[in-house]
Amino acid sequence: MISVERNREKVSLLKFSARAKMQKEIKVNAYVSYKDVLRRVSLKEGGCMKKKRELPIFLLLIEKIREIVNSKLDKDGKLKGVCKLLRDNVSHYDWVGFYRVDKTRGNELILGPFEGKPTEHVRIPFGRGICGQAAELRKTFIVHDVSKETNYLSCSAKVKSEIVVPVFKNGEIVGELDIDSHTLSPFTDEDREFLEKICEMVSKLL
Ligand code: SME
Repeated sequence: MISVERNREKVSLLKFSARAKMQKEIKVNAYVSYKDVLRRVSLKEGGCMKKKRELPIFLLLIEKIREIVNSKLDKDGKLKGVCKLLRDNVSHYDWVGFYRVDKTRGNELILGPFEGKPTEHVRIPFGRGICGQAAELRKTFIVHDVSKETNYLSCSAKVKSEIVVPVFKNGEIVGELDIDSHTLSPFTDEDREFLEKICEMVSKLL
């Protein structure tokens, strides 16, 4: 009796371990192919993007941006191309533009290439609005609901949220990537990681 029970236990353990092995293999296979894509991006760009919701489209866009950066277009043509690519392909990016730090004054942002409706905010002093705060504090700002911000410069009543990512060259801030969205709270750490990567890629164009 005891030995029968033991055998049953053994059989069920074997089944369990076979199932676990199968599951593990399936997971490992799926992971390997994904990891492979990630490794390619990491090797090329020194990045560390993680597997998340938007990753496949973001990976493709990074490849496209690399092509734009390496193309024969002039600097502003390349930046405009990046803006258009982002606006056309990410549904929650409604206005996409670059600001450059004014090299002569050093504490003001000047609007560069953008895609979307023209804005009145063509010069922004450091500290003013979301862009000015991101420049002053040299860090990415995500504003989930712009209506709750007191230090905010409105471009359009349609804008509900915004992300601003500084661009650095040799440790100095040289500009920013600014994205407005007509959706409330759409920006995640995934957007932040993706856009910070792009800002590294375009830093020599600012
Ligand atoms: N909303 C920005 C101003 C720039 S526009 O979004 C294009 C800000 O508060 O700094």
